[in-house]
Amino acid sequence: MTRKKRILSGMRPTGRLHLGNYVGALENWVRLQKTYSSFHMVADWHMLTTSVENTCRIRDNSMEVVIDWLAAGLDPAESPMFVQSHVREHAELHLILSMLITVPRLQRNPTVKEQARDLGLEVNMSYGHLGYPVLQAADILLYKADAVPVGEDQAPHVEITRELARRFNQVFKPVFPEPETLLTEFARLPGLDGRKMSKSLDNTITLSDSPEEIQKRVMQAYTDPARIRATDPGHPEGCVVYAYHQKFAPGTSAQTAEDCRKGCLGCVAHKKQMAQILSDILAPMREKRRHFESHRDEVMDIIREGDRKARAVAESTMAEAREALCLG
Ligand code: TRP
Repeated sequence: MTRKKRILSGMRPTGRLHLGNYVGALENWVRLQKTYSSFHMVADWHMLTTSVENTCRIRDNSMEVVIDWLAAGLDPAESPMFVQSHVREHAELHLILSMLITVPRLQRNPTVKEQARDLGLEVNMSYGHLGYPVLQAADILLYKADAVPVGEDQAPHVEITRELARRFNQVFKPVFPEPETLLTEFARLPGLDGRKMSKSLDNTITLSDSPEEIQKRVMQAYTDPARIRATDPGHPEGCVVYAYHQKFAPGTSAQTAEDCRKGCLGCVAHKKQMAQILSDILAPMREKRRHFESHRDEVMDIIREGDRKARAVAESTMAEAREALCLG
């Protein structure tokens, strides 16, 4: 029997996860764990690139993220979950890889460029932040991952990872496979205001929100500005509630679009319906989350066990890498 292909997935611990995180990553991870052998990593060191002066929440947020992973159905027995900073080899490999890539190559990375623009860091970016994709490459290569599931914005980082693997193999010895990019199919889920769903924009629905909170949030969603009365013909295109409908209840979305266009379904009625659909979908996750919230020691054990499994692989790869470099 051939060995199951391995994936390495990572997420920064930004706190409780929202529907955008679920659709853009987590849902896919849950599916992939059946066909791949998966390692799931909390990228806490990556948080330092944008919030080095505010580290006090990172540890708690890492725990929250793992609880959401468990609630969404990741199975720790099959797929270890670990914390990046608990496996020091990530830092060691990052250092070595950082010698194999030029500064202009990193400055060309479109995702880092966009972030620099958004944060006003074009001329002020830290050395570590510029090296964000190099640390990500270390995360992936340490586990000799065959594939990495990511959204479009992360694809440039996987490309850098592939280049670094090739370069290392060429300069030293062939140690690292070149990982494939597994692009998440679903386009980004819009936030309640129509922009990208993001915690910092306060336009999210959190996976742990109660039915009342979901209803309150969905009621604020952006729909069709051209529609004044519920009986006016509506335009589902560009309506956030309709986008959610397509994603979460595809079976009835065509009928809904027709009713909306004919002016038979008003926005308020549609929002109520959508709030119910979301609430039902999230109910099992809320339930599981409640269990883990009151059994945090269980979650700690899961992380400790994940760390142990991750460390075993990372140590062995790092021994090979040191050997290839004739160092250590
Ligand atoms: N950069 C990723 C993000 O912000 C998180 C991440 C860190 C990651 N290391 C990784 C993703 C390794 C995949 C593989 O979403």
